[in-house]
Order: sequence, then structure tokens, then C-alpha cells
Amino acid sequence: MSKENMQKNKIKVFPLISKSEIKKKVKDLSQKISQDYKGKELNLILVLKGAFVFGADLIRFLKIPARVYFLRAKSYEKDKSTGKVKIEFSAGKEIEGKNVLILEDILDTSLTLKEIIKFLKKFQPKEIKTCVLLEKKVPKREKIKVDYVGFKIENKFIVGYGIDYDERFRNLPYIGYIKLN
Ligand code: XMP
Ligand code: MG
Repeated sequence: MSKENMQKNKIKVFPLISKSEIKKKVKDLSQKISQDYKGKELNLILVLKGAFVFGADLIRFLKIPARVYFLRAKSYEKDKSTGKVKIEFSAGKEIEGKNVLILEDILDTSLTLKEIIKFLKKFQPKEIKTCVLLEKKVPKREKIKVDYVGFKIENKFIVGYGIDYDERFRNLPYIGYIKLN
């Protein structure tokens, strides 16, 4: 085994939010969304990769029909934001004139979500709203309106429930944090 892999295997995950707390919160969010979008057409845009577990759980609690789209956004290399966001999305034409709700895993500096909104506006949707599972308490966040927030959390490096550190830990059923030097 390489030295890098041996170090990765030693990383300890500290639990933060349990499986049952997550389930309750995701159900609550989904019910709120179902009420707010009653009679409207809902188009969910799930931000890959981090929000894939969150999105998959959330749609199963919805009480209204919804279309699901996937958008790929990448800004992190290992545990650091590169400051640039790469976006891949192939359904631009389909969201023209539609109500769009973005599902994202974590809000940190807000850069990713801001860039995604700017990108999606080019396709002229009727409305863009946002839903994040986790919002980190960061002092210098640029202003951004988030319509649905799951948990407000301390500024730690999060893993689990779809969220990775260098592609590891996405499979954990709970949310935890790791300590990085
Ligand atoms: P920004 O700073 O753009 O960050 O708001 C949001 C994006 O960065 C990723 N991110 C994390 N990924 N643990 C992770 O594994 C974290 O603690 C963390 N904080 C931010 C995330 O993918 C999100 O889309
Ligand atoms: Mg990530």
C-alpha cells in the first residue's frame, strides 16, 4: 500500500449528525417544499457529487411530482477550494421558463452556489430557489439567499451522507467531521 493510502486509512471521523436526525430533517424539508410547490411544476437540480444521497432521500418524501436534473460542480481538490467552479449541465433548454430548485450539500464560502445560479440564469428559468442540507458558520460569507436550510454547523471539514474527503466517506450513513492539519 502506498504511503498516501496508509495515511488516508488512518483518518478518524467524529460523528456530528446521526442517521435519524438527518432523516427527520430531510423529511421536514421535503414536506415544506411539497407545500410551497403545490400546484406548481417543480424542477429539482441536484448538484453532484455531494448532494446525490441528500437528493435521493429528499425526493422520496415529496408529496408532489418533480422532475430531477443533475448538474456537476467541482471546486474542491482534496480539502481545499480551488477558487474556481467547473460546471457541467446538459439540460439547459429544458429549464427555460421553469421553477428551478437547486439541491446542494454544503454552503461554505457560497462561491459554488453563486456560480451555479449565474450559470443557470443564462437559460432563463422562471424562478431559481436554493436548498442546502448544511450551512457552515463562516464569518466572511458573501451574501446569498438560501430558501431552505437543513442544519447550521460549525466550520469543520465534513464527510459522510454523500460528502467526501478526496472521494472517501461518501458511503457513511451519518454526517461527521475530520480533523485535517
Ligand atoms: P463553497 O465554498 O463554494 O463550498 O460554498 C461549497 C462546495 O464545496 C464543497 N465543500 C465541502 N466538501 N467537506 C467536503 O467534503 C466540506 O467540509 C466542504 N465544504 C465545502 C462542497 O462540495 C460544496 O459543493
Ligand atoms: Mg466534494
